[in-house]
Amino acid sequence: MNWDDESAPETDGPYAAGDRLVGSLADGEDQAVEAALRPKDLDEFVGQERVREQLDLVLRAARQRGATADHVLLSGAPGLGKTTLSMIIAAEMGAPIRITSGPAIQHAGDLAAILSSLTEGEVLFLDEIHRMSRPAEEMLYMAMEDFRVDVIVGKGPGATAIPLELPPFTLVGATTRAGLLPPPLRDRFGFTGHMEFYAPAELQRVIHRSARLLDVEIEGEGAAEIAGRSRGTPRIANRLLRRVRDYAQVKADGVVTREIAAQALNVYEVDGRGLDRLDRAVLTALLGLFGGGPVGLSTLAVAVGEERETVEEVAEPFLVREGLLARTPRGRVATPAAWAHLGMVPPQQAAGGPGQQGLFGG
Ligand SMILES: Nc1ncnc2c1ncn2[C@@H]1O[C@H](COP(=O)(O)OP(=O)(O)OP(=O)(O)O)[C@@H](O)[C@H]1O
Ligand SMILES: [Mg+2]
Repeated sequence: MNWDDESAPETDGPYAAGDRLVGSLADGEDQAVEAALRPKDLDEFVGQERVREQLDLVLRAARQRGATADHVLLSGAPGLGKTTLSMIIAAEMGAPIRITSGPAIQHAGDLAAILSSLTEGEVLFLDEIHRMSRPAEEMLYMAMEDFRVDVIVGKGPGATAIPLELPPFTLVGATTRAGLLPPPLRDRFGFTGHMEFYAPAELQRVIHRSARLLDVEIEGEGAAEIAGRSRGTPRIANRLLRRVRDYAQVKADGVVTREIAAQALNVYEVDGRGLDRLDRAVLTALLGLFGGGPVGLSTLAVAVGEERETVEEVAEPFLVREGLLARTPRGRVATPAAWAHLGMVPPQQAAGGPGQQGLFGG
């Protein structure tokens, strides 16, 4: 599915993304440990085979030519490895990296200052590139294409543009919302990599790797249990691993088995499919109070006791992605998978509708 267009970013409501164990944005603890867990080169980077292979070619070719790599745009949901990959690009090119972000660049002058201080071959990582101001964006077009910017000196009729040559550099832009990028900006990237959610087997590899770095003893089945609850997102997998490690240490002998992982995550109310309390509250209301829908978003939100935005932006994207809930013109509708997941029986089935039995496997 197209994440960029269908789901809004998580917000700071009562269920602020950072407060959720299964939130995909980085919280303070994540930021503190992520540096240590980041893969350092392409070989260590798990999954994303297509992006990795294509990027490997781009970087190898540039290295062979002794040239600066083309500009790279990385798009994808939070926590899938965009920042990690940007650092790997610099490492693979043996180049220094400068890190900034769209919101940090208020004025074109801010960008000019950064660009003019770059050294040849340097990687400029521009996170949240879709949140840059318009004038900065226009300056960036020229910098990317011609390695040149016009610095405007003075104001009004007396203002003059002083051209400034830039050394060749590689811009790595990251965005969670590729759809919001203006086409002229998108077109100036030589390579665009779209990051997908990770398969459970890939998350297991991420978890085993992190466990090794964190000195946690973990069994294959323990890693599988955590992977299944990680919503396809390495950042969440690493976070759940840390909570499971605590539990294993306090309640058992420190070894993460399937049972220990399941018990630990049950304590944190993250279920077998990665749904948390809010997600389940939404589904339970939809099924229990409205017979599976269709029901309007506002009504559903009131029933859950949450803000409309929280239900829509925090809970629903994952439920939709998991195929548990559908947004229809008539309202929110639960899918058969939702009934099965909560172990509930749809009304028409409960009434003994013929030919329906067995659809949900009891
Ligand atoms: N492919 C991967 N292999 C191993 N670990 C990964 C991978 N991708 C991400 N991670 C882990 O997940 C954490 C989060 O990744 P990262 O910070 O790169 O995500 P992001 O896409 O930049 O997120 P955001 O949109 O919030 O900035 C990293 O610290 C890293 O440890
Ligand atoms: Mg990032």
